[in-house]
Amino acid sequence: MSATKRVALVTGGMGGLGEAICIKLAMLGHTVVSTYSPGNAKAQEWQAGMRVQGYDIKAYPCDVTDWNSCVACVAKVAAEVGPVDVLVNNAGITRDMTFKKMDRVNWDAVIHTNLDSCFNMTKQVADGMVDRNWGRIINISSVNGQKGAFGQTNYSAAKAGMHGFTKALSLEVARKGVTVNTISPGYIGTQMVMAIPKEVLDSKIIPQIPMGRLGKPEEVAGLVAYLSSEEAAFVTGANIAINGGQHMQ
Ligand code: CAA
Repeated sequence: MSATKRVALVTGGMGGLGEAICIKLAMLGHTVVSTYSPGNAKAQEWQAGMRVQGYDIKAYPCDVTDWNSCVACVAKVAAEVGPVDVLVNNAGITRDMTFKKMDRVNWDAVIHTNLDSCFNMTKQVADGMVDRNWGRIINISSVNGQKGAFGQTNYSAAKAGMHGFTKALSLEVARKGVTVNTISPGYIGTQMVMAIPKEVLDSKIIPQIPMGRLGKPEEVAGLVAYLSSEEAAFVTGANIAINGGQHMQ
């Protein structure tokens, strides 16, 4: 992949998929910034740990559900690091429960964090990308936005919505050197997936994955690296599945 250095902003980059994405982009020589939720007391510790491992990943507080917080965060990143070339909308939460038990609070929390965040963050960077004639917006969705999942009406709706956002925005910026794509990971061995009750994971989920295993965060990070590259300039409006064959189930 080409060696042009870019500024990459990854939302929710501490832990899970986001962290693997930050590390991969940093390994490629990009300047990487992660956001973390303002209440995360471990942010400084995390950043120090990254430095010890040789990755200089900067971290900025940002509540991705809150417009003003996103405005302030991206303005600070632009002033201190530079304009954002690559945005990875990765921050996401689950509040799994059957629709019967789903209340408004848990619906809103998931829609705000997983979907409204794409508007809040992308709005801060898209015009600049268009003006500079280069940009990459990568939305981390889910296999469950494609196929639905038991206990995830909120999450599946938000994740499916992310790809609608991708398709529409990609049309608007296609002639401006800016690509917008969705990645839909399947079940990856992160804390989010490990929170699923073990008997549900073993009896209902793993048997649906043709490869018979969970994915690795690094496998998704490699795809983000590709979509961020010069070589991926002709890929836009796509929804790329990375799920061990689960989409065939
Ligand atoms: N398919 C079919 N039936 C299922 C099921 C599934 N995936 N999951 C649960 N059920 C069934 C149970 O077997 C049980 O059936 P019986 O009543 O006949 O015994 C019934 O639904 C109720 O299940 P629980 O006892 O678990 O009910 P609960 O209210 O305590 O919990 C739940 C329900 C929250 C949905 C829980 O089952 C759960 O957490 N399921 C996993 C949901 C899931 O897949 N989340 C993905 C998280 S990872 C992620 O989202 C990352 C990504 O992008 C892929």
